[in-house]
Amino acid sequence: MVPGGRGRHWLERHRQGVVYALIAVVLVVAIVAATVGGLRLHHAVLVERQTLRTQQLDAAVLELQMDAGNPERLQRARTAADAAFASLAAHDAAEGRRLHAAYTAYVQAPASQPRLDTLESDIQAEAAREARQMRVANPAARSALIVAAVMAALLVALLAWQFDLARRAGRIDRDHAARAEELIRLRDEFVAVISHELRTPMTSIIGYLELIAEGDAGPLTAEQRAYLGVVQRSSDRLVELVDELLLVAEAGRGQLTLDLVEVDTAALVTDAVTAARPAADNREIVLRVEPGNAGSLRGDAKRLGQMLDNLVSNAVKFTPSGGRVTVRAERIDGTVVFEVADTGDGIPAEDREHLFDAFFRSHSANARAVPGTGLGLTITKAIVDAHGGTIELHSAPGSGTTFRVFIPAGV
Ligand SMILES: Nc1ncnc2c1ncn2[C@@H]1O[C@H](COP(=O)(O)OP(=O)(O)OP(=O)(O)O)[C@@H](O)[C@H]1O
Ligand SMILES: [Mg+2]
Repeated sequence: MVPGGRGRHWLERHRQGVVYALIAVVLVVAIVAATVGGLRLHHAVLVERQTLRTQQLDAAVLELQMDAGNPERLQRARTAADAAFASLAAHDAAEGRRLHAAYTAYVQAPASQPRLDTLESDIQAEAAREARQMRVANPAARSALIVAAVMAALLVALLAWQFDLARRAGRIDRDHAARAEELIRLRDEFVAVISHELRTPMTSIIGYLELIAEGDAGPLTAEQRAYLGVVQRSSDRLVELVDELLLVAEAGRGQLTLDLVEVDTAALVTDAVTAARPAADNREIVLRVEPGNAGSLRGDAKRLGQMLDNLVSNAVKFTPSGGRVTVRAERIDGTVVFEVADTGDGIPAEDREHLFDAFFRSHSANARAVPGTGLGLTITKAIVDAHGGTIELHSAPGSGTTFRVFIPAGV
């Protein structure tokens, strides 16, 4: 085992999640650091301004001291000192309270030397306290802002990584889509070639089986005749399948040719219902034709019959015993509408977009082992398209399915 292989494997699978988690953490740290840095910086500015006010009070007090002998200047100096003190106290009430006693005592007796000393030393103590606060506040603000800047740089790097991952994932998706398309093309090509190659030997096998069954190669015992019947039915089914595959290949190349005649829609419906009747009776499904007055249309009788057979046989196949299947053809203006409705399980929304893809069968059809190859609806759609028509589907899980085919009547 490669050392650390497990960890690397985990990281590869969860890379996208890890990037998102890192981006979230870095973003939170950057926001917190920027906020703390901003608040610290704001605090440092406030302390600096207060230091200035303390110094202004100090200067005003010294002025007062010097002008003690001149009553006129003394009055002016006193007003200036009071203003300086009021400003200091207004911005920092605690400092105001601490200096209040010494300041009041001094201004009431400005000439008294010891009182000036007390006020001076109190002012110096405040200035020293503010200087200490600055020494703490400035580096703290700087550190927080540096952390915020580093986090911002990290965020940019993580976003670039995330962008690269998304770009690479997009490229891989495109590669997968192109590969899937190529595989589907190869499959269709392979199926078309094989079907074509199978058709000739199958025709020959069926011809010779007929000769044997008619006794041309000598008399048959009852047992041989029974075995031959099984071989003939299987061969017929095989030819049918090969024909369906050839039809899908033809439709895929856009080369589906139609033999246009006037087609009686009532006969089409009756034939499709008659063909499906044994299977419906077998499973106690009520299969009925609803009256409609569609008249005739110009189309390929064989292909339209095939189209309706597929829809009716699907409705019977995918409806549980005791259900109901209704078939009707009606005319709306110049369009014939064939409708096949059942009371089956319905078609889940996620299956609907693939329903007309060759070989598509729903998960439940496979799970319940309902027989089929998944070509019926592909062929149905190809026949409808070749007639210039459209096909519509209404289905909700649990409440049945209705297919509606619209074909321009053209007669
Ligand atoms: N009436 C319906 N009710 C529920 N599911 C349906 C109905 N018609 C078609 N489907 C679903 O669509 C799938 C494709 O139908 P389609 O007729 O192409 O194939 P199939 O019937 O499985 O095989 P095939 O027709 O080739 O024998 C079916 O396997 C089934 O899952
Ligand atoms: Mg089918």
